[in-house]
Amino acid sequence: MSAVLTEPRVIEDYLVMPDAEIAERIDSARRELGGRVVILGHHYQRDDVIKHADLTGDSYQLSVMASQTEAEFIVFCGVHFMAESADILGKDHQHVILPDLGAGCSMADMATIDQVEDAWEQLREIGVLDKKVAPITYMNSSAAIKAFCGRNEGVVCTSSNAIPLFDTYLKNYDKMFFFPDQHLGRNTGAKFGIPLDQMVLWNPHEELGGNTEEQLHAAKLILWRGHCSVHGRFKPWHVEQIRKDHPGMQVIVHPECPREVVELSDLDGSTSFIIKTVENSPSGSKWAIGTEVNLVNRLQARFPDKEIRLLAPDLCMCATMYRIAPQNLAWAMENLLDGNVVNEIIVDDETKHYAGVALGRMIEMTEKKN
Ligand code: 13P
Ligand code: SF4
Repeated sequence: MSAVLTEPRVIEDYLVMPDAEIAERIDSARRELGGRVVILGHHYQRDDVIKHADLTGDSYQLSVMASQTEAEFIVFCGVHFMAESADILGKDHQHVILPDLGAGCSMADMATIDQVEDAWEQLREIGVLDKKVAPITYMNSSAAIKAFCGRNEGVVCTSSNAIPLFDTYLKNYDKMFFFPDQHLGRNTGAKFGIPLDQMVLWNPHEELGGNTEEQLHAAKLILWRGHCSVHGRFKPWHVEQIRKDHPGMQVIVHPECPREVVELSDLDGSTSFIIKTVENSPSGSKWAIGTEVNLVNRLQARFPDKEIRLLAPDLCMCATMYRIAPQNLAWAMENLLDGNVVNEIIVDDETKHYAGVALGRMIEMTEKKN
């Protein structure tokens, strides 16, 4: 690494470079930085980025990887909330870099900390908090909301550990307030036999979330009105069409899909569950998969002996993940070579502490249940 700190390189210079040169620059920076850098890639990343990742995984696995690596630089090819979690779980000497700061998550943006705190106060005012209520946030949320859960006996969950964590919290608390993905919350609640009328929806733009006091007192699960713009695109008619056009094809979907889609499917589970299920299925198996298209395409390429298709006929791509292009990665890596840390994600100390409590609880409880 150069000892001389230069002016940061500008992304515009990279946008005009040919793809082959960009890939070569990433590889070369990767070699030169050696063990000082680790590139993490979420399964929904595009092929031309994921091929540069040292480690790939779903959001839970990536958070554990981030907590275990010793690398000085964690270059996160994922979205903002994942990079924040890596900063929270990482060590003091580590720097987390998100190659494009525009790689956010529309679901995470559907719950702000002010809205969540306001909702909590409203629940307190009507006496709902006189009982034991646990706030649980999906990983896909801001660090501030994770910290809120850490302060209030709550936890973070991902799609891969929602079931064991719900199990523990449902046994020990009267009620759960789950944000921001209503679908993961409802699909997981349904696995525990919670009737739909005991799972109320909290609309942050209405008084009491659009519910009566009685409904909130009676509810077992209060679900924030948020959803994933990618998985929300899968509809019941997609499953019906597959059943009609491809008899014998099994339908497997992510639990961020709406309840009606999950109900019609054969299987539902996290990104890793989907990958493992397809990997372990016999040659000749037929799968229609309801999740992000880059992952489905890679499964298709890996298993030519299996018939694999996207559940929907149109493209279900996470547009924000897609913002991390090889150009952004090359730009971030070559800046690191020059001694410039660009697009660093830094969570303030207090938020980091309490969000770390909620994430730490998640990892501890998940490992204990495994
Ligand atoms: P998992 O990686 O936990 O399956 O979550 C999917 C997702 O939407 C990531 O943003
Ligand atoms: Fe957010 Fe959905 Fe994209 Fe995941 S797939 S980052 S939940 S918009």
